[in-house]
Amino acid sequence: MQGSANLNLMIKAARKAGRSLVKDFREVENLQVSAKGPGDFVSRADREAERIIKDELRGARPSYGWLGEETGEADGEDPTRRWIVDPLDGTTNFLHGLPHWAVSIALEHKGEVVAGVIFDAAKDELFYAEKGLGAYMNDTRLRVSGRRNMIEAIFATGVPFGGRSTLPATLQDLARLMPVCAGVRRFGSAALDLAYVAAGRYDGYWERGINAWDMAAGLILVKEAGGFVGAVREGREIFESGSVIATNAEMFDPLTKILRQPA
Ligand code: IPD
Ligand code: CA
Repeated sequence: MQGSANLNLMIKAARKAGRSLVKDFREVENLQVSAKGPGDFVSRADREAERIIKDELRGARPSYGWLGEETGEADGEDPTRRWIVDPLDGTTNFLHGLPHWAVSIALEHKGEVVAGVIFDAAKDELFYAEKGLGAYMNDTRLRVSGRRNMIEAIFATGVPFGGRSTLPATLQDLARLMPVCAGVRRFGSAALDLAYVAAGRYDGYWERGINAWDMAAGLILVKEAGGFVGAVREGREIFESGSVIATNAEMFDPLTKILRQPA
């Protein structure tokens, strides 16, 4: 795909941060055996990845706004554009030496995500999409799956941890969905969950209690691969609701029906 200058900039930043994280990930694997564990080291790696991305993006486009998981929000001179960045999505996996985490970078224009890059550096899979130009993984065009029957479909979700208030609703979702589908996965990276829906690896994904930086890049990947996205609660905006449903073209209605049932 011949992407815009902005997309190329995002890819460059994601690859640079990914290289730094891969180096740190090797160290994390060694630190598992130490008594202190790799906690502080991973926080530093995470912050360093955001610094690398911020230097690249804001260096090249100083007028754009910024929303990053580590450094928060900053307005730019151009109020219509902002970067939405999660430098390390799947932090718990990274911390435990599990090779399933990614860099996620999105560009929003007038409240709509117009480009997204998700880089799984451990597997060297670069997912990217731009409005109207399709979604890709490395050089391959992505399409959502064609599965029509729920009983054959695989879904992904995020199960809230650390006492978060969305746990009971998610457990109820699982109790309703698991008996009527082929399986539910919890791999631990929302960005990759969305990229995998775009790639047709999952038929759908939903999560309650999720932030804009976890999902911004993934949303445009799913849409450009022919999928559907929405909030769990009907009539709400995705970011403002802090929830998401993303599926292939067939599973949106049946999945939303299950998730929107009254408690
Ligand atoms: C988390 C992961 C996880 C999802 C959580 C996110 P982090 O992001 O994407 O899969 O279930 O909602 O907060 O903390 O690893 O950047
Ligand atoms: Ca995240």
